[in-house]
Amino acid sequence: MALRGGARSPISALMKRPILIHPDPRLKKVAAPVADLSDARRQLARDMLETMYAAPGIGLAAPQVGVPERLIVLDCVKEEGAEPQPLVMFNPEVVAASDELNTYEEGCLSIPEQYADVTRPAEVQVRWIDESGAEREEEFGGLWATCVQHEIDHLNGKLFIDYLGPMKRQMITRKMVKLKREKAKA
Ligand code: NI
Repeated sequence: MALRGGARSPISALMKRPILIHPDPRLKKVAAPVADLSDARRQLARDMLETMYAAPGIGLAAPQVGVPERLIVLDCVKEEGAEPQPLVMFNPEVVAASDELNTYEEGCLSIPEQYADVTRPAEVQVRWIDESGAEREEEFGGLWATCVQHEIDHLNGKLFIDYLGPMKRQMITRKMVKLKREKAKA
């Protein structure tokens, strides 16, 4: 996930792994559960965090770097100079969601420089496997709740523009097609 004023360019030289840009069939697939935490998967998680910070973004899902597995990374600390709080989640799932809703302006590193209000549950209880292999469960609110839901959506082939009306979604998709065409020429 990205916030307005965040992601500057779809591909930065600092990015460890190139981020796929919508529309791409790999962004529409349901990702597979991670069966074991190999060193390669832990390395992937570290690369994804580095890529996310470089973008800059506050969340990134493995399908966005072309890996069809249930892995997300996030860090929603955005105050300048504040201690980073990177989270790596394998097989994350929302186990409970509040009735109370919250609307945030969302953006996505796979849909650069496009932002729209999305309404989601204000608080969610999430269960996941951390990078040490331990099962964890925590409640998230505020921006963290929005971001973790946005990233888990990616694991199910869903993008934030899928919450918008068809007109808005098509307009954004056309812009991305044009962007990709220009990038291919460059
Ligand atoms: Ni996203």
